[in-house]
Amino acid sequence: MRLTRRFRAVLIVSTLLLVFLYSNLRNEAVSRSEKLPKHAVARQAGEEVRIQVQTPVRAPAQTRVPSQPSVNISSAFRTSIPENGAYWNRLLHSSLKRTDRGEDPLKRDPLWPHCQQTSRELIETNVHDVASYPPLLRNFLRRMTCRSPPFLVDQPDKCGGNATFLLFAIKSMPAHFERRQAVRNTWGREHLHDGGLRVRTAFLLGTASPDDPDVSALVRFEAERYGDVLQADFHESLFNLTLKMDTFLRWTLERCPQVSFVFYGDDDVMVNTRNLLSYLGSLKPSTAARLYAGHVIKTASPVRDPKSKYYIPMSFYEGVYPAYVGGGGVVISGALLRPVYSTCGAIPFFPIDDVYVGMCFSALGVSPQAHAGFHTFDIRERDRENLCTYKKSILVHRRSPQELKRIWRGIHSPLLTC
Ligand SMILES: *[C@@H]1O[C@H](CO)[C@@H](O)[C@H](O)[C@H]1NC(C)=O
Ligand SMILES: *[C@@H]1O[C@H](CO)[C@@H](O)[C@H](O)[C@H]1NC(C)=O
Repeated sequence: MRLTRRFRAVLIVSTLLLVFLYSNLRNEAVSRSEKLPKHAVARQAGEEVRIQVQTPVRAPAQTRVPSQPSVNISSAFRTSIPENGAYWNRLLHSSLKRTDRGEDPLKRDPLWPHCQQTSRELIETNVHDVASYPPLLRNFLRRMTCRSPPFLVDQPDKCGGNATFLLFAIKSMPAHFERRQAVRNTWGREHLHDGGLRVRTAFLLGTASPDDPDVSALVRFEAERYGDVLQADFHESLFNLTLKMDTFLRWTLERCPQVSFVFYGDDDVMVNTRNLLSYLGSLKPSTAARLYAGHVIKTASPVRDPKSKYYIPMSFYEGVYPAYVGGGGVVISGALLRPVYSTCGAIPFFPIDDVYVGMCFSALGVSPQAHAGFHTFDIRERDRENLCTYKKSILVHRRSPQELKRIWRGIHSPLLTC
């Protein structure tokens, strides 16, 4: 029994390794800018992996927590989230009161591994029906004050040197090697675009769950090979996406403080980089300085169906959601990163990441800007094969790695007339 499980794990890891090396090789074959011949890369890759496996985990880079300026919470936000008996609503309003008194609202715990979890007793005292919550949500409740995971893999010099115009900050997961490779080869390629607009890319990963095969050595190899992988010390999970977003904000502030714009998005979207750059370049300075844009969801309410993975019980949150930008792809002004990060510090984590970011911006007094080119909920069936749709849009969710490569080639083909 144990042997078969181990065998299966070994099999999965070797398959992943092969997929990764294969896509690596293919990448080399198509990329003219690489100097190494194919066979050299393949051999080198093998050696690197072996060495990496024996290397002990690098000491986590403990990033400095930026100092928190005083936070002003908009009155629109205060009134949009009702003060009632639901647990999160109570947590929010007491945090806002502390903020108003000038107290440090939610401490961003630097002692991550020993972060003070909320005790079961406290939760049971405050949430009468917590026993009926899905296990993942109960888990979220216990850890929602733990905010500052250290980095296991960092890229301290990502934005060093030349000014970065746009940073693609892409939410990914350890096993998504193929998706990252497709993004690197298409819209996420680091490049100096026309007009001197420099684009850089970083993928943020958590750690794989203990039930999944351990691919950490592969991830470290990939990080060294491409210099675009970040990994923080928390488990990948739907309800840890808010933590991922907050961690990404913290990293960007620390490592790319001068960036003009950041695109936070998924690793399975198709982005038309040229259109995104020309949209950003066309903004009036006043808009460019306060941008929070994408596909805006104006009137959403929590899902109350216990069978849904986005289920939010009434005793946890009561109210509607403020207008927010769909998490598949959001563009944010670099100038807003610090204020929004500080504002988020006064708002308890909410399990749904894009709603949470919407709350932070609402509290900051910045309204989301809708742009019709962001198709976070995919496009009409009959447009999916039409290259002109992609040629004209900024973002389409969601596309497989193969589709990404095909569409990317298509929209850049001189033969295409739209
Ligand atoms: C800055 O850009 C120039 C020109 O593209 C390049 O030669 C140089 O290596 C870059 N410097 C850094 C630190 O990236
Ligand atoms: C989030 O990550 C932490 C740290 O790894 C983990 O303990 C927790 O279970 C995760 N949360 C969820 C909701 O899975």
